[in-house]
Amino acid sequence: MKVNGVSYRSIWLAEDGRRVEIIDQTRLPHEFVVAELSTLAQTSDAIRHMLVRGAPLIGATAAYGFYLGLHDRADDQALEQIAGTLRACRPTAVNLRWAVQRMMAVLTPLPPSERIGAARAEANAICEEDVATNKSIGNHGAGLLREIWEGKGGREPVNILTHCNAGWLATVDWGTALAPVFRAHLDGIPVHVWVDETRPRNQGAHLTAWELVSAGIDHHLIVDNSGGHLMQHGQVDICIVGTDRTAASGDVCNKIGTYLKALAAFDNQVPFYVALPGSTIDWSIRDGLGEIPIEERSQNEVLYVQGLHEGRVEQVRIAPAGTAAANPAFDVTPARLVTGLITERGICGANRDSLLALYPEQA
Ligand code: MRU
Repeated sequence: MKVNGVSYRSIWLAEDGRRVEIIDQTRLPHEFVVAELSTLAQTSDAIRHMLVRGAPLIGATAAYGFYLGLHDRADDQALEQIAGTLRACRPTAVNLRWAVQRMMAVLTPLPPSERIGAARAEANAICEEDVATNKSIGNHGAGLLREIWEGKGGREPVNILTHCNAGWLATVDWGTALAPVFRAHLDGIPVHVWVDETRPRNQGAHLTAWELVSAGIDHHLIVDNSGGHLMQHGQVDICIVGTDRTAASGDVCNKIGTYLKALAAFDNQVPFYVALPGSTIDWSIRDGLGEIPIEERSQNEVLYVQGLHEGRVEQVRIAPAGTAAANPAFDVTPARLVTGLITERGICGANRDSLLALYPEQA
């Protein structure tokens, strides 16, 4: 996607081929900063501290973590250590485990001398596939938006509500939930996005809004509690969100607060879609609520907010000293509340049979 007219991905190999460059997402929307990763430690810090975030991008970054880490040592023990370090960075997004497994499957059979080159090639391949996958999600999802637009007589914009950031910054490019929005916009379908601010880290306000401004797409930022009211008043045509882990049953785990939006959508007969690449499906899990590990993050993310004040990015405390906070970062939306899953292979129902019809190799 373009930033000030220049095409960017969220991660890429630097020109010297030895370092990896990322957009530091903790600095957006007020500063656009490219950060360099040249070691495994820098890579795991970038994932843990959310310079990169979003399930697909976490996976792609972990893949490059192998490439960077293997420059120190490339024997079997080093490989296991790299895998362990990366896996421990964040627990919920299954793409991290998926990427680590994929890299291990490619690298383990090779002699150490061939591992660095192979890691680089496989990480590059994961990125290229991610872009193609998300573009395809965009094409499938844009069909839904076109139907809604035509159903409204082709005169009014389609109102989409989204939560967190599942745009291009959360992937290598295009995004998942926002890919249909970008595609529709490019195809001339008028769209308007309700952007949940997404406390505590405000990925909606900081990242989704920034992406939409950059793309010239009409949107309004709303507080997390507005969605139900807007749905009751017919101002939301469709909800589209991303997912960090999708159970084989169709339960989806996404940024905290997604479940409440799904409940409100269900109560108001607003279609609730989840956009995801196949790499986000955890085929080993049948009960999302009972089995998906939920990341618990620092209470400071709740107790403080970050913003621009007199030209400087600052953090301010919003609760009294002595107040403790709880910060579960994700929640699970049961499949019964999900209208459909938008994947790179097409749109399907949120249930095991429909998913298997799209991914028969997992049967
Ligand atoms: O904690 P984050 O910012 O990594 O959470 C991201 C989300 O919840 C996204 O919605 C999800 O990863 C899907 S991204 C395409």
